[in-house]
Amino acid sequence: MKFRPYGFPILDLSQRDTAFDNHIERRLSSLRNKFSDDEAMREMLASGDPVIYEVYESRRPEVAGELASGLSIVRPGSVGAEYFMTKGHYHSVRDTAEIYYCLQGQGLLLMENEEGDTAVEEFRPGRVIYVTPCWAHRSINTGREELVTFFVYPANAGHDYEAIDATGFRKQIFAQNGVPTIVERASVPKRLQ
Ligand code: F6R
Ligand code: ZN
Repeated sequence: MKFRPYGFPILDLSQRDTAFDNHIERRLSSLRNKFSDDEAMREMLASGDPVIYEVYESRRPEVAGELASGLSIVRPGSVGAEYFMTKGHYHSVRDTAEIYYCLQGQGLLLMENEEGDTAVEEFRPGRVIYVTPCWAHRSINTGREELVTFFVYPANAGHDYEAIDATGFRKQIFAQNGVPTIVERASVPKRLQ
């Protein structure tokens, strides 16, 4: 942990391992109840357990005033017609915001609040997304290359995965005729083309 001001590269991907002090890999098996198409999920897991996304973190003490930051990298692909995506979470300290800056790729940030409102913002290189406090957020890769975003949030925010898991996100993003389409969860057919 550094206690003097410091800088680190985020564009030179070859330096990821030295620039950050934590690296997480999330494989398909850890996203079991997240994708709609159970049959497609079973088929994919039968032939391996691919990495769906990675997170590199520049960790800081988890106290108010500090900022945590890092890279989120979602691989391209889909489970059935549902694009690869992150688990998604609320911050445990609900009134904490987050900023994402897209470095590479194409995608969407799906957001939802506890009043049932949904917001979707587009990721493309050079675009910033500001997640206001109290909104759950999930990154979705709708493109053909890795979706790489830089994120910054208050280091005391914490991550609450259970609250959004209990209901699931109300909206889902599917490829319909190759086009990312927002679908109401209740109306998602078991198998989309
Ligand atoms: C931090 C944050 C991102 C995500 C990352 C992985 O607050 O929003 O760093 O943690 O995109 O997503 P989750 O945490 O939902 O697995
Ligand atoms: Zn977050």
